[in-house]
Amino acid sequence: MQRRKFIRLAGGGTIAAATVSSAALSGCSTRVPDEAIEAWQDPYNTVTSGDVRHWLVSYAILAPHSHNLQSWVVDLRRPFEIWLYCDPARLLPQTDPHARQIMVSHGCFLELLVMAAKERALRADITLFPQGEFEGDTPDGRPIARVHLSTDTSVSKDPLFPQILQRHTNRGLYDIQRPVPSSDWLAMGASLDTSVRFGFVTQEDEEAIAKHRKIANAAYRIEMTTPRTVLESYRWLRLGAGEVNAHRDGISLMAPLPVFLSKVGLFDRSKAPAPDSYATTSELEDFAKKIASTPAFTWLMTRDNSRATQIAAGRAWARLQLAATAQGLAIQPLSQALQEYPEQQGPYGDIHRLCGAAATGQTLQMWARVGYAQPVPPAPRRRFTDFIRKA
Ligand SMILES: Cc1cc2nc3c(=O)[nH]c(=O)nc-3n(C[C@H](O)[C@H](O)[C@H](O)COP(=O)(O)O)c2cc1C
Repeated sequence: MQRRKFIRLAGGGTIAAATVSSAALSGCSTRVPDEAIEAWQDPYNTVTSGDVRHWLVSYAILAPHSHNLQSWVVDLRRPFEIWLYCDPARLLPQTDPHARQIMVSHGCFLELLVMAAKERALRADITLFPQGEFEGDTPDGRPIARVHLSTDTSVSKDPLFPQILQRHTNRGLYDIQRPVPSSDWLAMGASLDTSVRFGFVTQEDEEAIAKHRKIANAAYRIEMTTPRTVLESYRWLRLGAGEVNAHRDGISLMAPLPVFLSKVGLFDRSKAPAPDSYATTSELEDFAKKIASTPAFTWLMTRDNSRATQIAAGRAWARLQLAATAQGLAIQPLSQALQEYPEQQGPYGDIHRLCGAAATGQTLQMWARVGYAQPVPPAPRRRFTDFIRKA
């Protein structure tokens, strides 16, 4: 007998899952379209403008960014310089109310830019906030950084550079049977300077890892059941090939069922699903399975939480993820418990205490799961020309 599974849809209503026939779903491809991920083709061969800064930017846009917002804008109007701005339309005011993750993501971009410059024997001198820092919570149109480029044959290439094209955020199930060896932790630690504190926990410390898992699940539940934070995620959710190709940003979801439901108007992203709906409970169950499959967690902590420190943390995060990639590891940030909106106060305090934040100002900038997993495809990126500020 066919099991009829009733799905409570986002925005209300139910549908018998059995009525969504495999024939209807077969038209939905689960592959991220090639066009949306063309930025991951060797940029050396695809950028032929002759302006080396285009080449550098085409690598920097492969950096990780919270929710894949790609909020970077570059101004190339001054020779030998790249001015980095933040696109005010690409922020996460609900889940990242102080734009901390946005600054971390700008740090990731700058680190990849510097690595690419070294590859071309260029020194990249960075001045942060050359016209002053923005006040309050939202970047205000002033530049985040000015990067001055000069030829310097004494700069050495960064050994992590080749990992840029291999690095992907892996949200899959990890292999719980396969611990992360200490040599890999050493390699990750060695990729960082001392401006950030690097920590990790493995299954050898059963009690601590159980606490990490518990906090991750609790924080995710809060995010998924707080209407305004779910709606913010929906805003950046790209469902199916059509939407992914049209936007080439955000989080791609290619699974046939939600794509189908969306096409037939039964997945309403203008309303948050009820906490007991199938949409919510199945998402939480799926996340819990992934957390249970995770053999290790890692984090980056800073002494203070200034804007410059957030950018330094982003630079370190990019290096840490590239170093993990070089070891063949899968890695996925878990930002929910680090987010500063009021409902996350409990998990925020718990994870800070668990990772050893004792002094005032000490801030956990990144927290992530680490392990071995099946590889995943790259995430979309917009065309590199989309990042260049027009006059
Ligand atoms: C500051 C920051 C926070 C992030 N938080 C999360 C997160 O909570 N969950 C997650 O799955 N990925 C998270 N990511 C990863 C981004 O979603 C990812 O970089 C983006 O989707 C692009 O994909 P890619 O890293 O595979 O290129 C985060 C990345 C950064 C830089």
